[in-house]
Amino acid sequence: MAFGGLLALRGVDIAVEEHQVVGLLGPNGSGKTTLFNILSGLLRPTAGEVWFAGCRVTNLAPWRLSGLGIGRTFQIARPFAHSTVFDNVLVGITFRSRHHYRRVLDRRREAERLLAMVGLAPKASARANELSLGERKRLELAMALSTRPTVLLLDELASGLSPKGREEVIRFYGRLKERGLTIFAIEHSFRVLAHVADRLVVLDQGTIVAEGRPAQVLGSPRVMQAYLGEDE
Ligand SMILES: Nc1ncnc2c1ncn2[C@@H]1O[C@H](COP(=O)(O)OP(=O)(O)O)[C@@H](O)[C@H]1O
Ligand SMILES: [Mg+2]
Repeated sequence: MAFGGLLALRGVDIAVEEHQVVGLLGPNGSGKTTLFNILSGLLRPTAGEVWFAGCRVTNLAPWRLSGLGIGRTFQIARPFAHSTVFDNVLVGITFRSRHHYRRVLDRRREAERLLAMVGLAPKASARANELSLGERKRLELAMALSTRPTVLLLDELASGLSPKGREEVIRFYGRLKERGLTIFAIEHSFRVLAHVADRLVVLDQGTIVAEGRPAQVLGSPRVMQAYLGEDE
């Protein structure tokens, strides 16, 4: 992926297996979000291909990728700020409703179920812009789940949260994995993914510098070097 003269990603080749949790790590500016923007159809890669479940999906529109089962969250949450928490989740459910929920009541139940899952049921009627950072991240997760994805791209769910908030995110990863979702998760802090990830991929300046099981990767000198001076 080139932005003018800047090569944001170079020769990145990653496979995420069904039902696995793969963590994407790397310092700020290493290209993590850019990769997710390509995978979710927001950016057209300068070269290369994206495949999903045996089909070439490069350059498909975001809504088509969502329809195929790819869900994502954003590093900076973008809910409909003046709508309620409940309505934000309902939007995604309604979008998929032709396939799953014909009846309004069923859609509302599904929204309630998702909000309970992320611990936001008590905030259902709050407006999205009244939420704390941690709550906004949980709303993002509920919104991403509302389209019934099979693959979730999660962009820094734990960043900026308190230690308690982080513990919660770690538990979410575990729960999503148990439900059989395939997860490709960016975290700035490798501690968050160390236990839940089956595999870690580390980017630095747009290239993969390490890849493998968490214990292998976290012991690699290249990784320590990439993170030198970064504290989170
Ligand atoms: N739309 C864009 N236009 C130009 N440059 C971009 C764009 N998106 C990202 N970049 C640049 O690409 C590099 C990687 O950014 P990003 O993928 O956001 O990194 P990360 O998520 O790992 O912190 C950075 O140098 C960033 O400034
Ligand atoms: Mg990013």
